[in-house]
Amino acid sequence: MRRTVEILTGKAELCRSIMGALPDWFSEPEVIEASARAVEELPVFGYIEADVVTAMIALKPHLPDAVEIALIATRPEYHGRGAGRHLVDAAERFAHESGARLLTVKTLAPRGRDEPQFEATRRFYDRTGFIRAEVFAKLWHEDHPCLFMVKPLMETQLSRTAL
Ligand SMILES: CC(C)(COP(=O)(O)OP(=O)(O)OC[C@H]1O[C@@H](n2cnc3c(N)ncnc32)[C@H](O)[C@@H]1OP(=O)(O)O)[C@@H](O)C(=O)NCCC(=O)NCCS
Repeated sequence: MRRTVEILTGKAELCRSIMGALPDWFSEPEVIEASARAVEELPVFGYIEADVVTAMIALKPHLPDAVEIALIATRPEYHGRGAGRHLVDAAERFAHESGARLLTVKTLAPRGRDEPQFEATRRFYDRTGFIRAEVFAKLWHEDHPCLFMVKPLMETQLSRTAL
């Protein structure tokens, strides 16, 4: 059975396990370790297939209006099977229930190199309804331009307008 659940314990270990299986995206151990420590403090949801947590998402609320996807990752052998989309849906529900109007994410911007894995990530966000809002060339590092993407949550916007 497939389902999305909130992960309450073992978040750091789950993060290390999934990010560590994705060396094409996360090659630096210190980045994985920093993420593992960070997700301990954040709401985390997992997608479960046959008792395996195949994917995770960590959310950073910037309330009242926005919720940021701090991390999303699917185990490589489960890519392209819908886990990521289910977790974006869970993020939207969380944001909606928190009263937010926007889901956001920061990812690596195109930087003139042949990097199909990062292009695949950007395509994933395109396909799940995110808009490429702005590139911040030096937010992270001059070699790592940041693409800021946003997904307006229309229902929340409409219900607020109606009030
Ligand atoms: C990005 C990632 C989380 C997507 O997870 P996933 O479980 O494979 O995604 P899904 O199977 O739910 O795909 C959702 C949509 O994105 C599209 N998509 C997924 N991977 C894609 C790819 N490589 N190229 C183009 N589109 C892609 C799918 O076609 C699908 O669209 P559709 O439903 O309209 O057909 C996964 O590829 C991953 O773990 N990447 C490495 C880590 C990463 O990049 N994290 C984000 C860091 S900012």
